[in-house]
Order: sequence, then C-alpha cells, then structure tokens
Amino acid sequence: MVIAIDGPAGAGKSTVARAVARELGFTYLDSGAMYRCVALAVSRTGADPDDGDAAGEVAERVRIEFDDGRVSLDGEDVSAAIRTPEVSALASRVSVHPRVREALVAEQRRLIASGRYVAEGRDIGTVVSPDAPLKVFLGASDEERARRRAAETGEPFEEVLRAQRERDRRDREREHAPLRPAEDAVELDTTGLPVEEVVARVVELARERGL
Ligand code: DC
Repeated sequence: MVIAIDGPAGAGKSTVARAVARELGFTYLDSGAMYRCVALAVSRTGADPDDGDAAGEVAERVRIEFDDGRVSLDGEDVSAAIRTPEVSALASRVSVHPRVREALVAEQRRLIASGRYVAEGRDIGTVVSPDAPLKVFLGASDEERARRRAAETGEPFEEVLRAQRERDRRDREREHAPLRPAEDAVELDTTGLPVEEVVARVVELARERGL
C-alpha cells in the first residue's frame, strides 16, 4: 500500500515524504533515486542515454537497493554520486524511455506490495499505483523551487533555475507517464509554507483516510 507524493523537482517531495513516513511508521521510497541510478549506470557503461533499448537494457540489469537512507547500485553505495547536476540531467533523459519506465515501475510495484510505503516521484499516483488511498501533488513557484535546490547544492540560482525549467519541460511533455496530477490527487502549493505545515497537512489527510 502506498501514499503517493508526486510533483516537480524542488517542490519539497523528499523532505515531506520522508517526514510523513517517519510519523506514520511507513517506509519511504524515493523513485527518483532509481531513475538516477539507471542514469549513472548508463553513463558508466558508455551507453547512449537517448537510445531507449540501450538504456532499457541497463534498467533491466541493474540491482538497486535502499538501506537506511542509503542507495546502492549493484552493491556500491552511490548515495552521493547520483545527486550531481550531470546525473540529474541524464536521469531526466533516460526516464523518457518506456523500457526504462517499465522496468522501474515493476520494481516499485513489487516493493509497494510488500508493505506500507510513502513513495515520491512523478507518476506514483497516475501509473505506479492508480488505486493509492492518498495521492498528494506538491507544487511551488519555479523561483522558490530553484532557490531551495540552490541552497541545498550550493549551485548558482540562475543555473539551477535554467536546468530545472529544462527538466520540468521534459518531465511534463514526455509521451510516457508525463508529470501531471492524478484526477483524485490533493494539490498542495508549498510556496512560502514551512515544511512542518505541509507534513502536518499530509498526515492529517492520511489519518482522515484511516491510514
Ligand atoms: O525526483 P528526482 O529529481 O530525483 O528525479 C530524477 C528524474 O527522474 C527526473 O527528471 C524525473 C525522473 N522521474 C520520473 O520520471 N519518474 C519518477 N517516478 C521519479 C523520477
């Protein structure tokens, strides 16, 4: 079973999903980290990230594991390596391929079926788990999202904003599982809201649904 937290980059999904999972005693699942792992594996093997079959083969072959907040790829801790701006850009490119998405969605569904999860991503409520009992779509203004990301990574704001717009466009316009709120998602605009308030609201929504 899963609580779905979807939205664009920098909307606060990770912080909110992690905190909600902790509060409810659920397991946190970062689906974006899985696309990042595939991107890293693609770049390491020298495969063409825009070749759907090559990237798909990599996605089907790699072993991605989560353990206590760490992410491992074929047994190697890649928690830091998957957070670079290069991997962010590559992840957005490999995630357009249906074969990549199929492999990762299958793995996400397998995990979700094994327990109670709070999963964050772009398509959890629309594709991975359309019958999730609670779907939240987080948003915030472009500038606020870029400000948050720049503060986190130390990159210049203008550069973050530019790269973010590029990724947002690709995530929204792609043919397969584009970023959009599910029809029954609760949409929350987090611009100017303290994170504790957003977390409290999502926990309240979960409790209202008896989760
Ligand atoms: O959330 P993130 O920034 O770690 O995601 C990295 C990339 O992966 C992002 O460009 C969109 C893609 N992604 C996706 O297509 N579907 C998901 N469920 C999660 C992430």
